[in-house]
Amino acid sequence: MHHAPVMPREILAHLAPCPGQVYTDATAGLGGHASLIAPHLLPGGTVVLCDLDPGNLRHASAAVSLAAPGIRVVAINSNFAQLPHELASRGLHTDLLLADLGVASVHLDHAERGFSFMRDGPLDMRLNPEAPMTAADFVAGLPENELARLIAEYGEERAAKAVARKLVQERANGPINTTARLAAVVRSVVRPSPGGVDPATRTFQALRIAVNDEIGSLEALLAAAVADASKAARAEPGDWLAPGARLAFIAFHSLEDRPVKLAMSQIIARGGQDLTRGHATPAQDEVSENPRARSAKLRAVRLPSCSTTENHDV
Ligand SMILES: C[S@@+](CC[C@H](N)C(=O)[O-])C[C@H]1O[C@@H](n2cnc3c(N)ncnc32)[C@H](O)[C@@H]1O
Repeated sequence: MHHAPVMPREILAHLAPCPGQVYTDATAGLGGHASLIAPHLLPGGTVVLCDLDPGNLRHASAAVSLAAPGIRVVAINSNFAQLPHELASRGLHTDLLLADLGVASVHLDHAERGFSFMRDGPLDMRLNPEAPMTAADFVAGLPENELARLIAEYGEERAAKAVARKLVQERANGPINTTARLAAVVRSVVRPSPGGVDPATRTFQALRIAVNDEIGSLEALLAAAVADASKAARAEPGDWLAPGARLAFIAFHSLEDRPVKLAMSQIIARGGQDLTRGHATPAQDEVSENPRARSAKLRAVRLPSCSTTENHDV
């Protein structure tokens, strides 16, 4: 299994890992970024890995231990919305945080995970296989207006109402529980766009975001970061971020980037430093080698570094 980490040079430059620091990867995936950063944390140093997908988390833990033998690894199988609480409950304050949003290529490559309209599989889309609701459950259970709202909002699909109407008609003939059937239903009402993007793309994105509460989780993580930035601005210790913590977020579409941009500006307004001066995008050579990188937007900030200790010393 392989997942080329996106914008590796930029992530290393902006997070600037140092020996002994705590690095937290909110979206461990296959451990690509974490394995790049971990050797820079030695000697000492801790890598906290978080992922909703237990298989990915195991893979990432093994990859980090291989890349930086002897490093302390803390693996947390959870939604990153709970990460601030998970760190605080372990008494950990992270110096570095990375969130590389979305799904990993393994999710799209494995038909049985139900993310891909290119490969037929059960209509699942859960990052956490223990989560209660699959994409098929959403399609089967939501009223037409809710389906239309979800597809419009999370898929930015202009034909959302027509798609929802067709899904409701079709589900009366039997459950829509495979990716191929969902894709066929969507393609029957949405015309292909001139750029050749598959008409099913936006509806699949919408369901994936809804099934995994991707935007709600991101907003919760960002709100916790802004809360600690506010504390840092008042020279109070944070609950989970260390003084001067560096945070980096990689977004792949505007629904993700919008809340990241807002939170970054709130952190900057509280005295944080804008490390990417707005946002950074991958260099052309990276996009040629790794097409997944083409829509990436990286935003990185540094929290104010004054701690209570420094404050008392003044
Ligand atoms: C793009 S991949 C990360 C790849 C990783 N940076 C690497 O280099 O290997 C995103 C990962 O985040 C996980 N993920 C997505 N949303 C999550 C959430 N809300 N909480 C925890 N993990 C999440 C996915 O399961 C996936 O493994």
